[in-house]
Amino acid sequence: MFESELAKALSDAQLTAEEIECALEAPKDAKLADISLPCFKFSRTLRLPPPVIAQNLKERVEGLDFVERAEVVGGYLNIFFDKQTVAKLALAAADTPVVGTSTEGEGKTICIDYSSVNIAKPFHIGHLSTTVIGGALYRIFKHLGYKVVGINHLGDWGTQFGKLIVATRKWSSLEEVERNDEYFLNSLYVRYHKEAEEHPEMDDEARAWFKRIEDGDKEATKYFDAFKEVTMRAVSKVYDRLKITFDSYAGESFYNDKMTPCLDILKDKGLLKESDGAMVVELDEYGMPPCLLVKADGATLYATRDIAAAYFRKQTYDFFKCLYVVAYQQNLHFKQLFKVLELMDFAGAKDMEHIAFGMVSMEDGAMSTRNGRVIWLKEVLDRAVEKAKSIIENKNPNIKDKDKIAESVGVGAVVFSALWNNRIKDIVFSYDKVLNFDGETAPYVQYTYARCASALRKSGEANFEDGDISSITDAEGYEVVKSVVTFGESVRLAAKLREPCYVSRHIVDLAGKFNRFYIDHRIIVDDKDVRSARLKLTLAVKNTLRTGLNLLGIDALEEM
Ligand code: ARG
Repeated sequence: MFESELAKALSDAQLTAEEIECALEAPKDAKLADISLPCFKFSRTLRLPPPVIAQNLKERVEGLDFVERAEVVGGYLNIFFDKQTVAKLALAAADTPVVGTSTEGEGKTICIDYSSVNIAKPFHIGHLSTTVIGGALYRIFKHLGYKVVGINHLGDWGTQFGKLIVATRKWSSLEEVERNDEYFLNSLYVRYHKEAEEHPEMDDEARAWFKRIEDGDKEATKYFDAFKEVTMRAVSKVYDRLKITFDSYAGESFYNDKMTPCLDILKDKGLLKESDGAMVVELDEYGMPPCLLVKADGATLYATRDIAAAYFRKQTYDFFKCLYVVAYQQNLHFKQLFKVLELMDFAGAKDMEHIAFGMVSMEDGAMSTRNGRVIWLKEVLDRAVEKAKSIIENKNPNIKDKDKIAESVGVGAVVFSALWNNRIKDIVFSYDKVLNFDGETAPYVQYTYARCASALRKSGEANFEDGDISSITDAEGYEVVKSVVTFGESVRLAAKLREPCYVSRHIVDLAGKFNRFYIDHRIIVDDKDVRSARLKLTLAVKNTLRTGLNLLGIDALEEM
């Protein structure tokens, strides 16, 4: 909140608010300033030495009502906030259960395409990031007043269906598949691949079956529906645990009848070229290989469906932005897709964004699917919950609802691990690391939250309404106050950069600051005014931590 206000106040013809906001930083030592503006970067544009720039900006900063004073130190402008104003804002966080909302998104719709699992293929650890990053962005944008449409662009089209029909008919039956779970379905798939190596004619059979699905053949469709049903049943259970919801499950098959008009536009614009019987859009002018849209046998592709989906979404939702939360391995696909849409003069072309992220691998070196060993997401969650349970049993053997708490802690830990870093970073997953109650983890934040709850309960005081946060002037307390107040700013930044880690980092930081305060200053003291003020601040922290956890899709627990 202060960052953007400062940036607005300091910007002028030569320096944009954006540049200033980017430059603002927390000082190394909190005693030096509340926030600091290094002016070195502006020297070139303004043709002035940094200290002179800082001096020129000083007066303007001091005119702001939330600024107490500013100091020029070398090339830095060090800014101190007015403690009363800051305290007043922190008070607001104590008075509302949901902190840091805004209306910036009013009237704007954001489509988020995330998770987008493949039917009849395992829901594995590789899907963790898209699912939880997408889910977090979904809630973060809603928090800021956007209308959000969560889309699961199911991978429900392709030759894997033909293969599965062949496998089912050879070694099982429709009834058995329907009765069983996703593991059973997967075992058929694995067996198919093994045997098809020696019997390549199976692939012809599979293709023929897939053709029958394409042609709407009744029997083939029955299989198709059963596979989809089994997968969706399994996937939904995981979504429930991860608190993930969607507004649309329009997947690849949904676009079967919606591609022709798009191909017509491409033809009309002379963009579609024939190449060995296939239809492509040439992109060498833009340094990319051609985008293949129709195969020689007439089959359409992943990209063709994505073009149709883009048109459908624009028409249906009139989106302001359309985000695709998909691994960086698909960078080229999205670059091609967006370029083709631009060449088609598609109205939403400039509002499409690929929100890329890195890979997740397991600490023990195990990887997903590649070498055949699948690490199911469900199993990672189960194992984390199991471990969480034994930790809780050790720490707090008498606590009620152990299973429920273990579920929240274990799942929360896994979710958080995918939201802690900048998206693009590859992650090495370690159970011990994500479940460390004293690290940069969900359990650490949850534990701090429970500590706030317990302090408020123990006070026995329902009435600290007139607690005056502005009377908290010790350094540790003031750091907590500031962190509460700047939470909304972090949420805004997370949305702007499509980086949920601004929220996860903020709540870990706040938890750390609160714990320092809690250890150095007792909350339940005899002096009524001091006690009320500290309780009030504790409530503000509690509300802020809960808001942050919930935005990430993680439970806040009153006790743990
Ligand atoms: N099902 C795809 C995969 O698992 C991801 C789909 C992403 N969304 C899209 N509109 N292309 O690789």
